[in-house]
Amino acid sequence: MNGQKTVYNKRESSKRDTIRLDDATNLILKASGYDLRPFAAEYTRARLNRHLLPPHHAPSPSTSPHSQITQLSRQDVISALSLNVTTMFRDPLFYCTLRREVLPALNARKHLRIWEVGCATGEESYSLAITLNELGFANRYTIVATDFNASAIESARRGKYNIKKARAFTHNYHRADGQYSFSDYYSATSEFLIVSPELRRNIFFREADVTKEGIDFRPDLIVCRNVIFYFSRRQQIETLELLSGSLNDGGFLCIGSKEPLPAHALKFEMREISEGGRIFAVQAQDRAKPGLCHRGNLRSLTLTDQPRRNQE
Ligand SMILES: C[S@@+](CC[C@H](N)C(=O)[O-])C[C@H]1O[C@@H](n2cnc3c(N)ncnc32)[C@H](O)[C@@H]1O
Repeated sequence: MNGQKTVYNKRESSKRDTIRLDDATNLILKASGYDLRPFAAEYTRARLNRHLLPPHHAPSPSTSPHSQITQLSRQDVISALSLNVTTMFRDPLFYCTLRREVLPALNARKHLRIWEVGCATGEESYSLAITLNELGFANRYTIVATDFNASAIESARRGKYNIKKARAFTHNYHRADGQYSFSDYYSATSEFLIVSPELRRNIFFREADVTKEGIDFRPDLIVCRNVIFYFSRRQQIETLELLSGSLNDGGFLCIGSKEPLPAHALKFEMREISEGGRIFAVQAQDRAKPGLCHRGNLRSLTLTDQPRRNQE
């Protein structure tokens, strides 16, 4: 992280009020226990300036960035870092590739295990469930959907979205090769669209930070889209190694269509099977190290320790 970058109090952005990003990072770690270093410096700086240090967060005009920072909770910091932009069937082409290439290749498996990293408010999780159900996987799959933002996870569990989004959701569903009517998958009130209990059945939402926690099962499919984009280069590599090392033999790893892939820096080969969707087949012999999911100081999520059922 570049120690010369500064964050500042926008109201009084004189030199006196600036604080070096490195110093802010150390103070935040001490105060809230959350380590910002896995994130890209420019992203961290922008998010701190925008969410943590603007005047409305300051108890009084004379409050310095130092003292604001020392009052931050872990959730304040995570909320500021967490960009929850998502939608149902985001990048429809990705779901077309899942339908046509990836899921058919996994169809012979008895039970599919899926790890969705950075599920935000759940739209991606429910889109995956719809796709799996339409391909006949019915109860033959489990999705463990994780995000480090506890309030996003709560929203995801509720599966309740503004009814005004229904039109955009429906449009994307059809572009993603949806087979039926999107309205089959929700009930509606004047204000909300509520996803059907059938879609929630095989999804377990969990709060977990992918920079600090792994899992102790081997997923056949990992979906980590639009998450590593915000990480430092080093963290991108570490996360891709963690994910590829966690995969079951013959599994697939999906990242966002616009995400950088520091391929030359990776210690393993990934065969890109779809350019549009950035889906990779990772073969067992290509893994950086088998069992990376159990490595070092990463805490592991288990399939069995977790099921706190979603609200129905
Ligand atoms: C832009 S959203 C992407 C949501 C969804 N995957 C999609 O593509 O529509 C990024 C999500 O990643 C989550 N995230 C960011 N850093 C994370 C981390 N270290 N561990 C777990 N989740 C993280 C954020 O909270 C946010 O909900």
